[in-house]
Amino acid sequence: MAFPAAFLDELVARNPIDEVVGQYVQLKRSGSNYFGLCPFHGEKTASFSVTPNKQMYYCFGCHKGGGVVNFIMEIEGLSYPDAVRFLAKRANLEVPEDTQYQSQYKEQERLWRLCRDAARFYHETLRAEIGTEARAYLVKRGMDWPTVVKFGIGFAPNDYHTLIPAMERLGYTREELIAANLAAVSQKNAQNVYDRFRNRIMFPQIDLRGNVIGFAGRTLDKDAKAKYINPTETLIFSKRKFLFGMNLARKSKRPYLILCEGPMDAIACHQFGFDCAVASQGTALTEDQVNLISKYTDLVIMTYDNDAAGQNATQRAIDLFARAGVKVKILQLHDAKDADEFLHKFGADAFEVLIQGSEDQADYRLLSLQAQFDLTKDDQRVEFTAKAAELISGFRSQAQREIYAERAAKAAGITKDAMLLEAERAFQKHASRERRRQEKEDLSPAVSLLPKDRSLRSAYRNTRSSRAEEEILAQLLMAPELLEKADGLTGSEFSVAFLGRAFDALAERFRTGLQVSLAVLEGFSAEEMARLSEISGESERIVDERAFLDCVRVVREEAQKTRSGNSSDELMALSNDLKARKGYGGNERGTK
Ligand code: UTP
Ligand code: MN
Repeated sequence: MAFPAAFLDELVARNPIDEVVGQYVQLKRSGSNYFGLCPFHGEKTASFSVTPNKQMYYCFGCHKGGGVVNFIMEIEGLSYPDAVRFLAKRANLEVPEDTQYQSQYKEQERLWRLCRDAARFYHETLRAEIGTEARAYLVKRGMDWPTVVKFGIGFAPNDYHTLIPAMERLGYTREELIAANLAAVSQKNAQNVYDRFRNRIMFPQIDLRGNVIGFAGRTLDKDAKAKYINPTETLIFSKRKFLFGMNLARKSKRPYLILCEGPMDAIACHQFGFDCAVASQGTALTEDQVNLISKYTDLVIMTYDNDAAGQNATQRAIDLFARAGVKVKILQLHDAKDADEFLHKFGADAFEVLIQGSEDQADYRLLSLQAQFDLTKDDQRVEFTAKAAELISGFRSQAQREIYAERAAKAAGITKDAMLLEAERAFQKHASRERRRQEKEDLSPAVSLLPKDRSLRSAYRNTRSSRAEEEILAQLLMAPELLEKADGLTGSEFSVAFLGRAFDALAERFRTGLQVSLAVLEGFSAEEMARLSEISGESERIVDERAFLDCVRVVREEAQKTRSGNSSDELMALSNDLKARKGYGGNERGTK
């Protein structure tokens, strides 16, 4: 295999999983485990667990799991070898030479460095003589110098070739500048590579670890075609996942986040003391961004622009936040088109007042629903009533339902009771849909013992054997010496191939005197590792030699039957297969 086992063991030993995970997730100790909010899906209750003595993690919510290498692969978006390199660097370990793997990580590191140097260059340029006009513009926009420094704001001069030669002097190539989206190739002349950002105020995009990963640029030219050039996808930048200002906002003491449209607005918020502001920057808010936000707060104040585009984006965002369990308040900025303008015109106190009293989503939603109908027409009133009833039926508190039913009723010109009745009906419809979904979920108790991951499930053809196989692995992880009683069992006798491979790997480690652990295993998929982690983490198990021997016997028997072609579980397996294909998931939420 690619990395020597001894090296991988050292890697795991020097990167304790609770410590590594703890850099990304706030963990609380509970018994011998740690719990925290899962970094891989938005959640409000901690279902993410870390088991230090097994060096594994597992999320009971989204069913991701594995060892420390899997964790880094998942959270940093790295390939297996690069996750190993990442951890080696963290622990100051030398990676044994491996020509087998191409390093994407090295390339990433190079781009991080390049972007940091480019940000320095742009910032120096802003300070220099050539930046005079740009500085004057920032002053005109009311930005003070400490804020400029805090955000590392810079200036790209009005010239096609300033960044490129400066970066070449530092040893970077044109290819790297292109890969970072800082330079582009002329369409007419492929030899001509030029600076992508010209005559622009530069906003470095900084990730949660403080790396510069890209740039946004606002033009100083009133006639420019694009006011903003937003950062685009590169090896190190994913706009789907990024929020401008999050590196600072996540440290804020305020109990909410302010979500703005552009960097100028977020920066103005910070300057005026609202250090919890982030910006989505000209793109529709994504689920990933919403999940990121939901890790830090359960209340978002939205201050999108007062125009139609901004209001549409707001509506969409409300739905996304609702699904992630985040409350939304909408700031209605009167006499200002955005937060930046508002703050400079009316000051921080006025903004604070606005935030404290900002309309919550119920109000906003009802009003914007109302605006879609012409309530002087009967048919539109009927339609509005139905839509409003649906909206109201989703409100959690009785009081809230009453209040809004009254308001909606007034708008529709019907009685409050009629409105409440409609809402009750909509609620019942909801509830019965929910009941049906739940029934489907509980369909078969046997199915819930299968892995949550559908792609794994087809491997579990023989439930009797696979249950025993998992028990064997769990027992071995607690008491490796049981291997001596395994009576020569091998992984090839297992019905589930990857469980068999895990068994062989553990046996091999036992034989060669390595720690019997699943924390680093090569050649397993993320789903397989997650299942192994789940098995090893089940805390209600106790070491039980009798049970272990029973399981060995069961695996043997079933293997025997399969060879002679009459597995008792064949029918069961077939029906499981059918169910899986039809999409009746164990504990999975209905198909999305
Ligand atoms: P605005 O034009 O309202 O931007 O567009 P702004 O931030 O208020 O600009 P100034 O600097 O104060 O004049 C709102 C947001 O839409 C995106 C930007 O993220 C901007 O902040 N946008 C706008 C673009 O991506 N490209 C554009 O050409 C214009
Ligand atoms: Mn603005």
